[in-house]
Amino acid sequence: MNLAFFASHRGSNMQAIIDACKEGRLQAQPCVVISNNSGSGALLRAQAEGIPHYHRSSNTHPDPDRLDEEMCRLLQHHRTDLVILAGYMRKLGPKTLAEYRGRILNIHPALLPRHGGQGMYGSHVHEAVLAAGDRETGVTIHLVDEEYDRGAIIAQARVPVLETDTVDTLAARVLETEHRFFVETLVEIAQGKLDL
Ligand code: GAR
Repeated sequence: MNLAFFASHRGSNMQAIIDACKEGRLQAQPCVVISNNSGSGALLRAQAEGIPHYHRSSNTHPDPDRLDEEMCRLLQHHRTDLVILAGYMRKLGPKTLAEYRGRILNIHPALLPRHGGQGMYGSHVHEAVLAAGDRETGVTIHLVDEEYDRGAIIAQARVPVLETDTVDTLAARVLETEHRFFVETLVEIAQGKLDL
């Protein structure tokens, strides 16, 4: 199972998955990393791991259709089986979505459909959870379609919200769960125990 990653920033979820592949806990291989951010931690991690990596964005490809075609070309060139959005803050284009429909996963740091949609990423999500007074939050892994955070839910893990939580403590607890749960979910997919 060849895994392609899209990531915009730190890339810690991507790293957790790469580590699981290297340690043999997940029967899969990272094949390519694409980032819209030339200075992202994700690209540095890919470089350190010797994984082919590319900066592709409206800066490198101002025409959205050309960018979409280029993304598709890279995914095909690296023989992608499954596409993983790991903190990717852009929408994929229609050609890429059509080519890999049902094979693109995103991770979201809350229990969708709560606290999802455009602008709901990173600390914004945890702020919304605390502002709503939710007693629990979690992690959602879902298929990707044309809209942010809307595709079919594949798996969810619950995380308690403590009365003493700040955005930072909650984010840290959720992130720890993300790293473990994303790998566990991919293991189930690789073993054929979870259908997409
Ligand atoms: C993760 O918490 C992920 O769930 C979130 O961005 C973070 C990326 O961290 N994604 C979203 O909020 C998508 N709506 P990472 O770069 O360290 O993996």
